Amino acid sequence: MDWKVLRRDVVTSTNEVAKELVAEGTEPATVVVAAKQIAGRGRFGRRWASPRGGLYVSAILREELRQLPLLSLASALAVVDVLETRGLQATLKWPNDVQVGDAKVAGILVEGIVVAEGYWAVVGIGINSDVYVEDLPVDLEGPATTLRHELGRRVDNETLLADILAALEARLPGREGGADLVARYKALCTTLGQDVTIRTAAGTLEGHAVDVDPQGFLILETPEGERVEVAEGTVRPRS
Ligand code: BTN
Repeated sequence: MDWKVLRRDVVTSTNEVAKELVAEGTEPATVVVAAKQIAGRGRFGRRWASPRGGLYVSAILREELRQLPLLSLASALAVVDVLETRGLQATLKWPNDVQVGDAKVAGILVEGIVVAEGYWAVVGIGINSDVYVEDLPVDLEGPATTLRHELGRRVDNETLLADILAALEARLPGREGGADLVARYKALCTTLGQDVTIRTAAGTLEGHAVDVDPQGFLILETPEGERVEVAEGTVRPRS
């Protein structure tokens, strides 16, 4: 894919800039990357801490809305693929938190947009890369880490960006490398096999996480023995 990378210094959120570009009629494969975000967003309207040194990128793709859950898993997997080349084994907390041990190192926010010409997706990827752990805010939802901390050395965000875009392209649903996507995702997903509580827009669910289906939905077995398909939500291990 011929990515066209637009570099910015400070933005509100690269996803916001990308969505504006879609509305203005940009080309697919346009990528927005910023050195710092002042209103970086996570899933469910949460804040994404975005100090200088992190990698904040949004890739614009043509994608059907029904593919978005899978696209979001594929993007998380692409990050894991790249971290592996740096000697770091990351895991995934459903749907797309990239973790090293129990600490989050990267997150994905995929947003769908419908305009007259069809369906688009903005794939927002945030990586705590060349950042000191001390530079992350203390009031984050859960434990967080950075690549600089885990690797014990500086991280070159330019090389990281190039590698992430190549890995994302290889992992896109329907592409070569996309076929084993769900199998590989499941092998890395620490949520599977756990008793969990999931906060969703429709309420809270409890159960045992047993599977991820081909669409990327989490399959939960409830205490009543029912199998429930979960499309989105925030997972916590059940205490
Ligand atoms: C999450 O884990 O909740 C998702 C975090 C996604 C953060 C990235 S940083 C680049 C892009 N721009 C944003 O405002 N959010 C995403």
